[in-house]
Amino acid sequence: MPRQQEPNRQRTYGRRKGHRLSARKQALIDTLLPRLRVDLGEVPPQPLAALFAPPVTSIALEIGFGAGEHLAAQAAGRPERGFIGCDVFLNGVAALLSRIDKAGLRNVRVHDGDARALLDWLGDASLDQVFILFPDPWPKKRHQKRRLISPEMLRTLARVMKKGAELRMASDIPDYVRTVLLAVYRSHLFDWRAEAPGDWRERPAGWPETRYEAKALREGRDCCYLTFTRR
Ligand SMILES: C[S@@+](CC[C@H](N)C(=O)[O-])C[C@H]1O[C@@H](n2cnc3c(N)ncnc32)[C@H](O)[C@@H]1O
Repeated sequence: MPRQQEPNRQRTYGRRKGHRLSARKQALIDTLLPRLRVDLGEVPPQPLAALFAPPVTSIALEIGFGAGEHLAAQAAGRPERGFIGCDVFLNGVAALLSRIDKAGLRNVRVHDGDARALLDWLGDASLDQVFILFPDPWPKKRHQKRRLISPEMLRTLARVMKKGAELRMASDIPDYVRTVLLAVYRSHLFDWRAEAPGDWRERPAGWPETRYEAKALREGRDCCYLTFTRR
């Protein structure tokens, strides 16, 4: 099945495709992805938990999972929770599929397209947790309109998240963090769960390191970890 149609929107990502996939990864794209892909042409099942074959009691979404290491670790650690992973980068999708296949994970579904299409598809108050870890930084002033997290995105997330649901975000770009905090404060839709500097300077327990984060730390950039609760 081809990737689902997407409307024209401000592009928030760089490449959609990298180096040629290995035969194994191409086979996973051809055979496993069609089984795991969320079909946005259908109405969302009621309840959304019916997306998952094994019974799940809550649902998390990771937007921009990169190579999928965080998503796969979360899904392995919480088999009672269903995880929807979303990324536009084909090689990253293949990397996630490889982890799902190797670990035999049954509680993951995939949207290999723009997160905003998936968010538009989701019903109100569908999600218990959302991760947006190290979204593309777009550091140049003229590119900042491409940043994924904006006041509009916060309103969209607030619609699809349940009251009390958790939003985790991380970035190594101080200006991005400041902008998000200001937008969250102005939105009145989320509470920032931080009491002391350690709460944003140190990655909380149960939050596996991502590839982008490891690179940022190697290159000497501090990372900031934000956890919000939907009001
Ligand atoms: C900087 S990478 C970080 C990846 C991973 N979270 C990590 O920390 O290693 C950002 C990811 O977000 C994805 N992305 C950017 N905009 C997106 C969108 N609108 N929908 C889905 N994925 C998106 C990119 O393809 C990329 O894989």
